Amino acid sequence: GRAALATGLEKSLTAQILHTYETRLFPSADSIEVKRTFIEKFATILVTEFPGWEVDIHVFGSSVNGLGTSRSDVDICLTTEHRELEDIFLLNKALRKHNMRTYCIPRARVPIVKTWDPELRIASDINVNNTIALHNTRMLQTFVAVDGRVRPFVLAVKHWTKCRDINDAAFGGTLSSYAWVNLAIHFLQTRNPPILPVLHPRARSLNAEKCMALGEVDLSFNDNIGQLREFGRGNSESLGFLLYAFFRTYAYEFDYRTQVVSLRNGCYLSKAQKGWDVGRPSRIFCIEEPFSTWLNLGHSANTIAVEGIRREFQRAFTILRDGGSYDQICEIY
Ligand code: CTP
Ligand code: MG
Repeated sequence: GRAALATGLEKSLTAQILHTYETRLFPSADSIEVKRTFIEKFATILVTEFPGWEVDIHVFGSSVNGLGTSRSDVDICLTTEHRELEDIFLLNKALRKHNMRTYCIPRARVPIVKTWDPELRIASDINVNNTIALHNTRMLQTFVAVDGRVRPFVLAVKHWTKCRDINDAAFGGTLSSYAWVNLAIHFLQTRNPPILPVLHPRARSLNAEKCMALGEVDLSFNDNIGQLREFGRGNSESLGFLLYAFFRTYAYEFDYRTQVVSLRNGCYLSKAQKGWDVGRPSRIFCIEEPFSTWLNLGHSANTIAVEGIRREFQRAFTILRDGGSYDQICEIY
C-alpha cells in the first residue's frame, strides 16, 4: 500500500533528488570529454605496444549504460584472437611503460587490470575477452530508455550507497554498483502497476535453464525500445515516493532469509527454488545475475555486512519518514 509520506514531503524530496541529479550526478561535458580522450590514449598505447595485433576496444558499464556520473570509472573489454593477452600481466606491463598506475586482480572470476591515469585523472577496469558484461550493459541501456524515472532514481540510489560506504564489493565486502543497480531496477519492475517490464519472457527463462545445462548462457532479451517506451505510463509514483518505498522495502519487507531478487523474472524467487538455501554461507543477500543465473551478485557481502546494509536502509527510511532531506540520508559516513 501507499503508506505515509505527506504530500509536501514527497514533493520536496522529489525536487531534491532531481536537483542533485541535474547538478551533481548527471555527467558533465568535461567528464565525457576526459573519458573519450582516455580511450584514444589507451588505443594508441595498444597499437604502440602490440603492433599489428587486432584488438577491439569495447566500453561497457556506467560510462555507456546511462547510469554513470562524472566520477564513474571507464570499464573496458578488449576482444582479440591473441589469447596471450588474456594473461593480464602482459597488458599491465604495457600500461606501466606509459606511466599508468596499475593493479592486477588476476584470480577474480573476471581477471582485470585496474588502471589510474595520473595525467587525465581517471580510473579504468580492463578485462580481455570477457564479453558477457557487454550484454548486461545493453540490457541496462534498454531499461534506462523505457521510463524517464529510471536514470535519476538509480543514480540517486547509487549516490547514496557511495556516500554511505556500502558500494565496494572488492575491498569493502559490501555490494558492487552492478548489484545495487539490479536491486533498484528490480524494485521498479515490482511496483504496482510496474514501471519497468520483464525483458526475459518466461519461455526464455526456461531456455536459460537448458542453456545452463549445456554450459552456455542465453544472451537474448527484449531490446525493442520502440515497443517498450512508456511501458510505465500507468504508474505515476514520484521519485521521492519511490526512494522512500525502496528504503522501506529493504529495511522491513524483503525477507533476506528466504528471498532472491530476480531481475530476469521481475519478481522474487525463493532460495529453496534456486537451491541457494543449502551450502554456501555467503548466500545471505541473494541477487540473481540476469544472464549467468547461477551467480549471486550479493556474494561479496557476509552476514555482518548485510546487517550493516540493512541498518543503512532503516536509517535512510527513518530520516525520510521524519521529514529529513536527501542530502541528510547521503551524509558522508
Ligand atoms: N559487471 C558484471 N558482473 C559483476 C559486476 C560488474 O557483469 N558482478 C559488469 C556490468 O556490466 C557493470 C560493469 O561490469 O555495468 C561495471 O561494473 P561496476 O563498475 O561495478 O558498475 P558501474 O555500473 O560501472 O558503476 P560505477 O559508476 O560505480 O562504476
Ligand atoms: Mg564502472
